[in-house]
Formats: sequence, structure tokens, C-alpha cells
Amino acid sequence: MQQEETARLIEDWTQTHGRTRDRLLPLLHMLQEEIGFIDGNAIKIIAEKLNLTRADVHGVVTFYHDFRRAPAGRHVVKLCRAESCQARGAAAMEKAAAERLGVPMGETRPDGQVTLEPIYCLGLCAVGPNALVDGRPVARIDAAALDRIAQEVAA
Ligand code: FES
Repeated sequence: MQQEETARLIEDWTQTHGRTRDRLLPLLHMLQEEIGFIDGNAIKIIAEKLNLTRADVHGVVTFYHDFRRAPAGRHVVKLCRAESCQARGAAAMEKAAAERLGVPMGETRPDGQVTLEPIYCLGLCAVGPNALVDGRPVARIDAAALDRIAQEVAA
């Protein structure tokens, strides 16, 4: 079902927007937006449609952090890993978040409740370390903030 939906979306999109190599990034963004992830099946279909190798498509998908390879959890917590947040203790908060939320960085908890991902600068550098919780920025992440986030994503 999911594979058929993916194939249909790619076919419809390429009929409207073309099948040249420069269509790759916009096509990947559309799929990420519509389905939420780009898996091996999507990579295979895209490679065929745009006359690219699977390695070409896979390389682009894995290069950009915004593209997911698997469905996200019900809640998505992103922690900033960029320079200013690093200088404000982001690495320690990342470790604490993984423990508090029960999921390693870059993964989705087995119960599907939460995904923990890195992000690279939210433009709130002066009030870091920062997070994005289901799209909402949260500044000055500390142990108390992680507790609040853990309660929020438990719902
Ligand atoms: S470095 Fe984290 S918000 Fe800019």
C-alpha cells in the first residue's frame, strides 16, 4: 500500500515537473513532505524515473539531514548541534536527552512515541542549547526542560 502510494506520488509529480536530474531535490522534498520519509523503495523508483543510479539518489538522501529514511515517531525532538549550542553544553544535553527520552540520537523509540534527531542551528544561538519539539522551538535546554519535554512527548 505504502509502496503503491509512493510510486503514484513520484509518477504524478514527475509528469508535472519533469524527469531531469535537477528535479531530484524538489522531488525528494515533496516525498518527505507527503509521506514523511524516503526509503529504499522510493530511492529505486526515483532513480528509474530520473535516469540516475540508486547510489546517486541514496547519496543525496543521506547527505541532507532533513531527509528521513524511516517513518518518524509520533513526536519529534530535534536538538541543535551547531557551534553556539555546542559551546553552551549541547553535547551534555544530547546525552541527557537520549537517557531521559529513552532513545539514542538519530533513532525512533521502539514504541514509536518519539524520534530524537540532530538539527543544525535554529537561529536562536544566544539562548542555547536549543531544541525543536514537534516544530516548536525550546530555548535554554537543561535538565528541567528535558523533564518537561519528556512529559510532553509521553502524551
Ligand atoms: S547554534 Fe544552536 S541555534 Fe544556532
